[in-house]
Amino acid sequence: MTVKKQRYDIPPYSEGWFQVGWSDQLARGELRQLNHFGRTYVLFRGMNGKAAILDDICPHLGAHFSEGGCVKGNSVRCPYHHWAFDGAGACTNIPYSKSIPVKAKTRSHTVAERYGMIFMYRNKAGTAPTYELPSIDNFDPEDYSRPKTFEFKINIHGQDIMENSVDSPHFAAVHGHSMPVNTFRSEGSELWISQDASVRRFGTTLKFRLEFHMIEPGFHYVHFPDMPGPPSHVFSSIVPVDETSVIHRLTLRVKKTRPKLVSHIARRFIMWQMMRTYHEDMQIWETKEYLKHPVLCDGDGSIMKLRNWYRQFLDPEEGESPKLRVLPS
Ligand code: FES
Ligand SMILES: [Fe+2]
Repeated sequence: MTVKKQRYDIPPYSEGWFQVGWSDQLARGELRQLNHFGRTYVLFRGMNGKAAILDDICPHLGAHFSEGGCVKGNSVRCPYHHWAFDGAGACTNIPYSKSIPVKAKTRSHTVAERYGMIFMYRNKAGTAPTYELPSIDNFDPEDYSRPKTFEFKINIHGQDIMENSVDSPHFAAVHGHSMPVNTFRSEGSELWISQDASVRRFGTTLKFRLEFHMIEPGFHYVHFPDMPGPPSHVFSSIVPVDETSVIHRLTLRVKKTRPKLVSHIARRFIMWQMMRTYHEDMQIWETKEYLKHPVLCDGDGSIMKLRNWYRQFLDPEEGESPKLRVLPS
């Protein structure tokens, strides 16, 4: 008998807010199937403009709304017998019945739209959030050019993607940068990391600082305060598909400039640099193992800091939670 080895011994899912799409990619009257956390949801936007997420299963006879259903008014209509359900999961219409059964409900999930992104709140119990979607400091989307978006499905745990940001030696080995110096600051459950580094490009040495703001496992962002050119932000959203893979969404926002050419060039440069490093990491990410007790040296200290921060969001009931040691950095 073949025993399948589990790649990660940390819980695959966490509690919190997760980006499930972009606002301008879901018009009124449209729906999408979402495959996250090992299950299926339907995301739709009613004619009132409000986005909603429901469990993608009709309580009547089990059809999936996202497999041939449609939006009617502010409800999603099941393809099988045309029962309709609003954004709160209540049945609003049965075309062939005079009354609606009390149990004709499906579970709805809390949705928030901010900065041009659509987020859902998720926890194991499927209950409403006890806190709002955290906001981003000093960022007004009106001042920024339209988002440039990227979406990747990767066989990895989200913790490994976030860990990569503080894995200083890999920047030299994989990306050809200098080995960055990380400075950590935490406030409540959030973490800020300043990273100073340099890279040889175009025959010169470019020095830069990255400021990471780790909000929760589903969402973090980075900006580049010392970079020449207009201010820019990269939003990074990680949402599990199942126990083996995640969808990683990246959104680049560059501040508008006059002339527009400056923000255009900055945008092209950041995109090029971002995609280059991303593909360099990707091959290693998809094949690496997760070591609960890695053998670390003095230059690796930030990795365990990141794991310890991440652990606060993991629910041991959703899988084994590791006992981590904090190593001096
Ligand atoms: S299964 Fe959905 S309306 Fe019958
Ligand atoms: Fe990397």
